[in-house]
Amino acid sequence: MYDTSERFLIKGTDGARVLVGTIRVNGAKNAALKAFAASLLFSDPVTLKNIPHIEDIERITDLLLNLGTKITKNKDGVFICDHSELHTSDLSHDISKRLRASIVVTGPLLARTGKVSFPHPGGCVIGARPIDLFLEGFQKMGARIIFRDGTYHIVARGGKLRGAELFFRAQSVTGTETFMMAAILAEGKTVIKNAAMEPEIKHLADFLISCGARIKGAGTPAIEITGGTLLRAGKKTYITPPDRIEAGSFLILGALAAKDLKITNCDPTHIEALLEVLDLAGVHFRVGKDFVHIKGNSKRNAYFKNTALLKTHEYPGFPTDLQAPMMIFLTQASGESLVFETIFEGRLNYVEELVRMGADIRTMDPHRVIVKGHTSLKGREMESPDLRAGLAFVIAGVVARGRSVIHNVYNIDRGYERVEERLRGIGVDIKRVRE
Ligand code: EPU
Repeated sequence: MYDTSERFLIKGTDGARVLVGTIRVNGAKNAALKAFAASLLFSDPVTLKNIPHIEDIERITDLLLNLGTKITKNKDGVFICDHSELHTSDLSHDISKRLRASIVVTGPLLARTGKVSFPHPGGCVIGARPIDLFLEGFQKMGARIIFRDGTYHIVARGGKLRGAELFFRAQSVTGTETFMMAAILAEGKTVIKNAAMEPEIKHLADFLISCGARIKGAGTPAIEITGGTLLRAGKKTYITPPDRIEAGSFLILGALAAKDLKITNCDPTHIEALLEVLDLAGVHFRVGKDFVHIKGNSKRNAYFKNTALLKTHEYPGFPTDLQAPMMIFLTQASGESLVFETIFEGRLNYVEELVRMGADIRTMDPHRVIVKGHTSLKGREMESPDLRAGLAFVIAGVVARGRSVIHNVYNIDRGYERVEERLRGIGVDIKRVRE
């Protein structure tokens, strides 16, 4: 369970490049969470590997345990999920309200058992986060929806979902995953148009295909799924791909504060949008098959060029999950940049804290700010508002002058495994303390 009394103490480098060494990227949170949901599509136990040890994984495993799933786990991030004794299709309100990814469980669970009930899912407070696409999609697949006392009750007519044509008005990551999974156990063919193209979706589809699912086009905007019966994993295991957001955040930190830093176990092809922006800014790095090496940035950060326009976009565009860390970079680069957050309307709220640190950021509207660099940041006390902004505050604390205290560390633990230990390993002066 999370501990709200923990905080990070960080001593800043005041813009000096001192970090040295190697930092390894863990399995991707937003891939691993969906793999747990996907295990509901199987008749036999499924083994999931390279699962990060983070809060959100505890939340999703608790959610499944409440349904009757048997989960065995060992120390090395290996989990085995067995759904042979499911006894309910009601998702725990308490857990769903704390985990956006709980919505992804609804698809395979409904497809498997013919019904599901759940509350409006929670998660990071970064905007309204509607579920209209989910409700409409379930209806198109032949389900009936009743909303009573804060709970959605969804029942598939005749106990089975039917294939359907779905067009997503917004490219939704969890929406694409949910319906790709639900369609595997539906009758007939489902087509998802304007599907999200995030690499985690293709990775999941490839695993499901290797276990018998009939999916075409994952990783493109049109996915076609032909439904069938429960899948069999046999000896196949799901291996979580590296977290591209973690890799990107370490890269931004490295660009600002490292003398010689190697970010390993990552897939640089998944962060091309960031690499392009950093390259244009003048950051020196070398890209290998599974690493990025930052070295030779001898000039001060003020020498880095601004980005003029940084616009978040669905994959393969610049990820919204890296917008906050990139903001710290832009406070350190020279000149003026417009940051346009196109995905979530509440994802720029954290900038007020940066302004208190000395950043020059002007808010235009909930989606746009203008950031002017180079500014010298001064360490201070901050609350981590969500996990991505929380890690951005850690980066800000590292490049700042003096000490920073970051409260609400559990928000950061939701997505990053023992991040302070890994950062200490490359020379960051960071400590976790309790009140
Ligand atoms: N949208 C709708 N209706 C819906 C669903 C989404 O209008 O029914 C809209 C959203 O309001 C938003 C856009 O579609 O404007 C895209 O949202 P999406 O559904 O793709 O977001 P999500 O699936 O809820 C996932 C990640 C987020 C990440 C976004 C965008 C998970 C569990 N979460 O959210 O990750 O920011 O995709 O890439 O996969 C995080 O890890 O910190 C995080 C917030």
